[in-house]
Amino acid sequence: MAGFTSREVRLKSRPVGMPQAGDFEVGSVELASPGEGQVLVRNRWMSVDPYMRGRMYDRPSYVPPFQVGKPLEGGAVGEVVASGSPDFKPGDLVMSMLGWREGFVAPANTLEKLPADAGVPVEAFLGILGMPGLTAYAGLLEIGQPKEGDTVFVSGGAGAVGSIVAQIAKIKGCTVVATAGSDEKCAWLKSVGVDHAINYKKGNLLEAVRAAAPKGIDVYFDNVGGEHLEVALELAKPFARFAECGMIAQYNNEEPAPGPRNLIYVVGKSLKIQGFIVTQFAGLRPQFIKDMSGWIAGGKLKWEQTVETGVDNAAGAFLKLFSGGNTGKMLVKL
Ligand SMILES: NC(=O)c1ccc[n+]([C@@H]2O[C@H](COP(=O)([O-])OP(=O)(O)OC[C@H]3O[C@@H](n4cnc5c(N)ncnc54)[C@H](OP(=O)(O)O)[C@@H]3O)[C@@H](O)[C@H]2O)c1
Repeated sequence: MAGFTSREVRLKSRPVGMPQAGDFEVGSVELASPGEGQVLVRNRWMSVDPYMRGRMYDRPSYVPPFQVGKPLEGGAVGEVVASGSPDFKPGDLVMSMLGWREGFVAPANTLEKLPADAGVPVEAFLGILGMPGLTAYAGLLEIGQPKEGDTVFVSGGAGAVGSIVAQIAKIKGCTVVATAGSDEKCAWLKSVGVDHAINYKKGNLLEAVRAAAPKGIDVYFDNVGGEHLEVALELAKPFARFAECGMIAQYNNEEPAPGPRNLIYVVGKSLKIQGFIVTQFAGLRPQFIKDMSGWIAGGKLKWEQTVETGVDNAAGAFLKLFSGGNTGKMLVKL
C-alpha cells in the first residue's frame, strides 16, 4: 500500500510573549509505505494543549523543546492505513504523540491500540478518558485528597482539566467553587453541578471566592496561577492541599512573574503545595479508566469539546487557548 502526502504544522519561529499566527506554518511531506515493524497512520483527531507553549521555549524541561522548522507534536487519534506489523491492521484506531500532521509512519511499538467498542466517541481518548482526564483525576484525588464536605476551589474550571476536576469533586461529596472567563462558561458549570461558578473577568475575584466559600477552602486545584493562586492562599484553611497543575496566566510572560505576594501563608496555615506532571501518575490509568467509565455511564460526568477543523486551523485553535476560546477540550478534527 502506497503512502500519501501529509500536511503538517511546523514551528516557524519561537514565540516571544503571546504566540502569533505567524509563528507557525503548514508544510507537507510524502509518506512512504510502512517498512517491517512500522505502521502508516492517517490522523483523525489531534489534541491542542496549553503545555505545548512551554515546548516552544528553547530551554530544558520535562519534555524537549520543539525545533524551529520541524512539525509540532501532540496527542492524536488516527486510523491505521497500512501495517508492516502483526500487531496492527488497516482500520485499527491508534493513539500516538504524532499529532499536528495528517499522517505518519512510525514504529508499531510507539502506538497504542484503542478499543473499537469503548462506548464513547474515539476523541474522548484525547480528553475525558485521556491525558486531561487523568490529570484531573490524579491531581485532585492523589494530591488534593478531597474528603466529603470539603470545599474545593478550581481555576480554569470550564477547561478540559478543570471541568473534570469540578465534577469529580462533586462526586466525592465536596462543595465546588470554580472560575471561568465568561458567563456562558459559568452557566455550563452550574448545569453540571458546580455550586459556585465565578466569572473571574468581572468584579473582585477575592471577594467573589470569599463569598462562595465563607469558611475557606480545603483544596485548591490550580490551572491558572497568578491572582488565582494568591486568592487561594488568602482563603485556604489550615492544612489545605494545593494541586499545582498549571499556571496558564503566566505561560506567555516575557519576564518571570513575581511569586505570590502572600506566600507566607504556607507557613502559618501549614499548607501542602505540590506540583505534578500527569505522566508521574501513569500507573493509575487502569483505575482511572474504570472509575471514569463508571461515572460517565452513570451520568455523573459530562464533557464538552471545542472542535476546529483541518491542519490550517490548528495554530488558531492553539492561540484560542490563551483567550478562552474553548469550553472543555480543544480538539482539531482532520
Ligand atoms: N501538570 C500536568 O501534567 C498538566 C496536564 C494537562 C494540563 N495541564 C495544565 O492544566 C491547565 C488546563 O489545561 P487544559 O488542557 O484543561 O486547558 P483548558 O483549560 O481547556 O484551556 C485553557 C483555558 O485557560 C483559560 N485561560 C487562558 N488564559 C488565562 C489567563 N490569563 N487567566 C485565567 N485563565 C486563562 C481559558 O479559559 P477562560 O475562558 O476561563 O479564561 C482557556 O480556555 C493548563 O495550565 C495546563 O498547562 C497540566
